Amino acid sequence: MKNLITKEDLDSLDYNGFVIKKNVINSETIKKIKSIVLENSEGKGNPDTHYPLRLKSFFIKCLKLDFKRALNSLYLLRLKDKLKLDYHASNIFKKPAELTMLDGYYNKKTSKEILPWHSDQAYSGKKDVKNFQSPDYFFYKFFIYLTSVGPGNGCTSYIPGSHLITYAVRDCIYKKEINYKPFWSISQLLEIINCKENFNLIYNKISNKELFNSFIKKAENCIKNNNDKSFDFHASPGDILIFNETGVHRGSSPVLDDRVVIRYLYKKKN
Ligand SMILES: [Fe+2]
Repeated sequence: MKNLITKEDLDSLDYNGFVIKKNVINSETIKKIKSIVLENSEGKGNPDTHYPLRLKSFFIKCLKLDFKRALNSLYLLRLKDKLKLDYHASNIFKKPAELTMLDGYYNKKTSKEILPWHSDQAYSGKKDVKNFQSPDYFFYKFFIYLTSVGPGNGCTSYIPGSHLITYAVRDCIYKKEINYKPFWSISQLLEIINCKENFNLIYNKISNKELFNSFIKKAENCIKNNNDKSFDFHASPGDILIFNETGVHRGSSPVLDDRVVIRYLYKKKN
């Protein structure tokens, strides 16, 4: 699928940090992937939600006689090849990119938020961090929905352009221009930006001042009104959300249906 990502999509990924591609996977494939993912335990991050990528991990799975997982992984890797995700990820990064993680998980219908507003590559909000990563180290996620999601119902909401704001913050921290303070959550992020000693240093790194000002307003609104759905969207099974994970995003609660997804995570090759 060489035409999966257009020039407009690449521009949107640069400017907004995300793009949604509709109707990419056919219903038969969706059914098959869903059956694979539903064999896992519930929720994100459990060891059995991850699929082996490298020869060594395949070998370990086979040693443990977990042939099914190895076969399921091969199926998901073939899908990645069919969609030409390696090629598209390299185009998005404008550098050779590689798949670094593949997982699939489901959430049962719940009124509990999957994850509140946050950004990734923010040291998970740790208080003490010794080594800071360059802001150029980050991942793109190809997030494939296998069930329907919608506003306030399991979609991954994203504040457009917020990846450019966190880039400036991470750059200031990496270059030791400002002191590190946790900035994982949206309120921590606003706090670090609004800190008197930091504000101008961060502001000066962002060329689009309009974007900066509107981000501050949007972020304040998200904090004040957690039920705000301005950045939510509808997606159907087979749609793909591609996003820069350093932008501010959240996983809303799947209140109406169980949610099933698979994720291909890419980074620049070393
Ligand atoms: Fe995240």
